[in-house]
Amino acid sequence: MTITHRSQSTTSTQRDSWVEINLSALERNFLKLKDLTKTNIMAVVKADAYGHGATATAPILQSLGVHSFGVATIDEGIALRNAGIKTPILMLGATPFWSYDQCLKNDLTITLYSKDQITLLENFSKDLKSKIPVQIKIDTGMNRLGIDYKEGKEVIDSILNSSCFKLEGIFSHLSSAHDVDFSNLQKERFDSAVGAYKDIPKHIANSYAAINYPDFRYDLVRVGVAIFGQEYNFLEPIISVKGRITEIHKIYKDDYVSYNRTWQAKKDSLIATIPIGYADGVDKKLSNKLKAIYNDSLIDQVGNITMDQMMFDISDIKDGKVNDVITLIGKENEKEIAISDWAKELDTITWELICRLKIRLPRIYTRD
Ligand SMILES: Cc1ncc(COP(=O)(O)O)c(C=O)c1O
Repeated sequence: MTITHRSQSTTSTQRDSWVEINLSALERNFLKLKDLTKTNIMAVVKADAYGHGATATAPILQSLGVHSFGVATIDEGIALRNAGIKTPILMLGATPFWSYDQCLKNDLTITLYSKDQITLLENFSKDLKSKIPVQIKIDTGMNRLGIDYKEGKEVIDSILNSSCFKLEGIFSHLSSAHDVDFSNLQKERFDSAVGAYKDIPKHIANSYAAINYPDFRYDLVRVGVAIFGQEYNFLEPIISVKGRITEIHKIYKDDYVSYNRTWQAKKDSLIATIPIGYADGVDKKLSNKLKAIYNDSLIDQVGNITMDQMMFDISDIKDGKVNDVITLIGKENEKEIAISDWAKELDTITWELICRLKIRLPRIYTRD
């Protein structure tokens, strides 16, 4: 493994716990997805590339020929431009009217989602020499952001007839991509609104639809979670989470570990502490449920996870030592723990948990 660079995610770099991002795996995932979908790929790198680091991952995707990037906010778009990204950037979310000039300055494409917003933009554009790059978002059932599909044609025609806008695409978003019937209904609604506009690029597919529904691919697919290797067995998770043992305690039968005494030793035990806790994005509800990999064995996390530290029972590990590395997320030889294992335990989704890991952990970028 080669460490390519380090980045400070928020506040800490001097820590013995960290996130590792394998950029070679990112490349492999992108190329596999490109090969499978055979269409343009917009890499969705919002929320700092789902916690993987947008400015570290986007240049690689750009060099591999990604079509464009999807972000949620202007700041995310500007950060990409400052990192040298030249490919188109679409702000998938809402853009505050007071920052339209920043969008133009940084060549960021605005999503149009309401008639009021279109009027605001038309007023803003009066003194402009250039047209405003936009994409129209059609709401086909998500009911979050977008022009109602029934009004789609009227709005698309008005944008095409307006001298203010450069229309770069029309898109919609699936609310329940795993549900074939509802996704088909959304696709039908989308087609009814956009079918007549042959020359305008169209897109509706997220990772799941891009992989599973070939006729949802249109002119490009918007892929987030799959590029980072989550959720699909044919792809590789690019993220690992690790911590070094800072202390090993010998405790005795019936001793407790951590706050509120939620774990009691059934026998004399060895307890290892690592410096990672819920303030780093590991949900406290995983207390006493987490497993980790240590010396090719699975070990149990014990006692309540605290803000900055957590403990493991390493009684069955031979020769455990301070400074050894424990892997919370990742693969070590035959053993693997994925974020989706945590998500199952917490009855939530991978997306939510992965974004949280950027809170305080330093990130190390590697190649294999
Ligand atoms: C509008 C939009 N498109 C695409 C995506 C990417 O979704 P996924 O990570 O499932 O590929 C998202 C993510 O939430 C999104 O909000």
